[in-house]
Amino acid sequence: MRRGGGGPSVAAMGIATDIASDWHAALAALAWQHELGVEDVVLDAPLNRYQLPEPAKTAPPPVPVAMGAAPAPRAPSRPNVAPVETPPPAADAVAEARQFAARATTLDSLRDALAAFDLCDLKKGARNLVFADGNPEARVLILGEAPGRDEDMEGLPFVGRAGMLLDRMFAAIGLSRHSPDSEAALYITNVMPWRPPGNRDPEPAEIAMMRPFVARHIELADPEVIVVMGNTPLVALTGERGILRARGNWTTALNKPLLPMTHPAYLLRNPAAKREAWADLLTLQARLKGQR
Ligand code: URA
Repeated sequence: MRRGGGGPSVAAMGIATDIASDWHAALAALAWQHELGVEDVVLDAPLNRYQLPEPAKTAPPPVPVAMGAAPAPRAPSRPNVAPVETPPPAADAVAEARQFAARATTLDSLRDALAAFDLCDLKKGARNLVFADGNPEARVLILGEAPGRDEDMEGLPFVGRAGMLLDRMFAAIGLSRHSPDSEAALYITNVMPWRPPGNRDPEPAEIAMMRPFVARHIELADPEVIVVMGNTPLVALTGERGILRARGNWTTALNKPLLPMTHPAYLLRNPAAKREAWADLLTLQARLKGQR
């Protein structure tokens, strides 16, 4: 088992394997590890679950020929195996994602489309689809990166430590995901609806595959402004990296005003950057109040 930053293994924590025979002891040990921050199960040696089986390399052993015997007649040159057919071209995941997303006419049907989309490998390792939270009528849509462990468990975006900070930040300018009033509400989603293993950054191909869904999500929710939190959503919507340079400066994406901000997880690691984040929140508030 591992926790963020490389935590102790099961063996190192002195858990004997015989607890597996006692369900209650196993559950208690699991709860204890969870409290310690253990997040993932890993083996002692890495195991590549995506590796394809090696094709057989060895030729069949030669048939022994008796001394002085006439050589065996040659096999006909016609191969005795069926010809290998050219495999069909790999599915174009982005084109497929576009079709799935385009067919969705409501947020509920978009969620169903994502749930039915099987070409993203992240789905295989995730516990839950993390679609969105908050009020879809909100003027402000927040786009984050990807679910972490807590979000994966609950099936909701930004419910871990970073999410708590996000809630406090936006509450400071009077916005909440729980508000039924669209003026004071937030709608929150992520570029990736499935947790990347070990919270790694989403890969460019994964972002490209999810972009049609994100674009349709924004089209259907139709917010007045978009706030992107961190590099991944900035790249997904503008094609540009460099959140520290971009933050606080309005730009346009999908025909909507877009404000880049630093990710709350970054703010947790760099508290000094909260001053700039506060300035960005005031920039957003001014825009919502009609001041530019
Ligand atoms: N970070 C994100 O970008 N999104 C979440 O939902 C949680 C953490």
